Amino acid sequence: MRRKLAAGNWKMNGSIAALEMIDQLSQAHGDAGCEILLCPPAPFLIPAREKASSGPVAIGAQTCHAATAGAHTGDISASMIAETGATHVIVGHSERRESYGETDAEVQAKAKAGQNAGLVAIVCLGESLEQREAGEALPVIKAQLKGSVPAGSTGADLVVAYEPIWAIGTGKIPTMAEIAQVHATLRADLKDLLGDAGNDVRLLYGGSVKPGNAADIFALPDVDGALVGGASLKAADFSPIIQALDAS
Ligand code: PGA
Repeated sequence: MRRKLAAGNWKMNGSIAALEMIDQLSQAHGDAGCEILLCPPAPFLIPAREKASSGPVAIGAQTCHAATAGAHTGDISASMIAETGATHVIVGHSERRESYGETDAEVQAKAKAGQNAGLVAIVCLGESLEQREAGEALPVIKAQLKGSVPAGSTGADLVVAYEPIWAIGTGKIPTMAEIAQVHATLRADLKDLLGDAGNDVRLLYGGSVKPGNAADIFALPDVDGALVGGASLKAADFSPIIQALDAS
């Protein structure tokens, strides 16, 4: 059984004070059956871990460098992230693929670095609006998966997040049939790439997940949770999403 995962990506938002939300989530979801993850900006990883202590909220980072150490001013290695007590790292978010030109090969190297440091790598992929409108969504996603997932990954060290770029922060989402089709394709391809382990890798949907659409999305086969941006910034929004996942 794949344990469901509600992951929040704060992006470049939040503050030390806003970490108070971890207390609220811990109180509200102490007995949650699903896993809860918050990925705040890197300077907040240590205070976030302190707040989360032994509660139900795990902490993750939003990216890492592929190298273990060296002359990479401003970058953070996966082992540094692990040292903070964080357990996950998002890699290949479309905002990083777009802003920093991260390629599939770089994303794969970052994911591998995360796994080598003992972190769960959350590999993001998804098509642009132009690609979807041109009928290319599936081939694009399949190629990203093949190029971005490290060989030998397992359900214990890999999560894949399908995030159509045009759905991120826009309030638009694909139809339920489109999400189901992509997730079924990803599942089949993960099994081709990783064998039986491909069955254990959690598949998240991301892009404008809100309290109002979460239950419908979570009812789809092969949707094992969500990667949530805007709605993960406030407990009032993230909590009902966690509840919907727990109930699914
Ligand atoms: P959103 O972002 O929930 O604000 O659309 C999702 C993401 O980028 O992970």
